[in-house]
Amino acid sequence: NGNYEVTLIPGDGIGPEISKSVERIFSAAQVPIEWESVDVTPILRDGKTVIPDEALNSILRTKIALKGPLATPIGKGHVSLNLTLRRTFNLYANVRPCKSVPGFATNYDNVDTVLIRENTEGEYSGIEHEVVNGVMQSIKLITRPASERVARFAFAHAIATGRNHVTVVHKANIMKLSDGLFLQACQEVAREFPQVEFDEILLDRACLQIVQDPSHYRNTVMVMPNLYGDILSDMCAGLIGGLGLTPSGNIGRDASIFESVHGTGPDIAGLDKANPTALLLSSCMMLRHMNLNSFADRIEDAALKTIAEGKAITADLGGKASNTQFTDAIIAKL
Ligand code: IPM
Ligand code: MN
Repeated sequence: NGNYEVTLIPGDGIGPEISKSVERIFSAAQVPIEWESVDVTPILRDGKTVIPDEALNSILRTKIALKGPLATPIGKGHVSLNLTLRRTFNLYANVRPCKSVPGFATNYDNVDTVLIRENTEGEYSGIEHEVVNGVMQSIKLITRPASERVARFAFAHAIATGRNHVTVVHKANIMKLSDGLFLQACQEVAREFPQVEFDEILLDRACLQIVQDPSHYRNTVMVMPNLYGDILSDMCAGLIGGLGLTPSGNIGRDASIFESVHGTGPDIAGLDKANPTALLLSSCMMLRHMNLNSFADRIEDAALKTIAEGKAITADLGGKASNTQFTDAIIAKL
């Protein structure tokens, strides 16, 4: 019927409720996609926890997914499913923009940062062992191909979004080999893009500068190794009001998964109190990735207007509305 198929991973905790909001808003906006909802509850196979084939096959086929939050065990247990998905589909670039939401006041206004996080290796390689009792080692793995690949992505993204500047964030003063390689790869790729300005900054200095004056980063695309991107993206989210308002896209060559970065909200799960904005903005990022920009613009406008009005916003944004009421208000503005 000419519709695009998209895999939906509703996720844990508040995941199903916020996914439902997105589904309702998409159908009200008559977005030409069909959801294929899959369960990624891990199963035990040959002593290893793996994602069920049905979910994997769905993403292999649709090549695009929207994902709610998934619980990650801390300090023990199975490998995070979030990571498993990123690794399985080689989703090498994680795009994390943070833009001030008009009408939602924080200590900062006019924040507009874009961060590209290397998404397959670094501190997330998962290679860890006990050297001897009381001495643990976790390997930070940086390779030239993965560094070049994410650097090229960052430059292409800078051009596509008109920012025309790339800033590599690193600690090559300390990790001379691993971050040194990442930095060198970015410097080399920069030569392939003479039309894009390029500079570098140490991670600690970047953090200081962003919290002092985020306007320095309005016109650049930051690119960095995995863990730095994890931390710095939460920090940027904090400037605009938190993870309830920020989208994220994991981009690969063969598939892409768009997701909210916040947790599963176990304390409010099932109570119709969750804020679906982060997942909704991620779904708009997904629509733009699919070249369905006009739908993305309409939905984003409606959501941002609803927040700016402040009449039907959820408790985390300072309002009294339920998720359903907030979603209804967005639909009324489409
Ligand atoms: C994120 C999350 C994940 C990460 C967790 C849930 C595995 O914090 O997407 O930023 O550390 O990458
Ligand atoms: Mn994180």
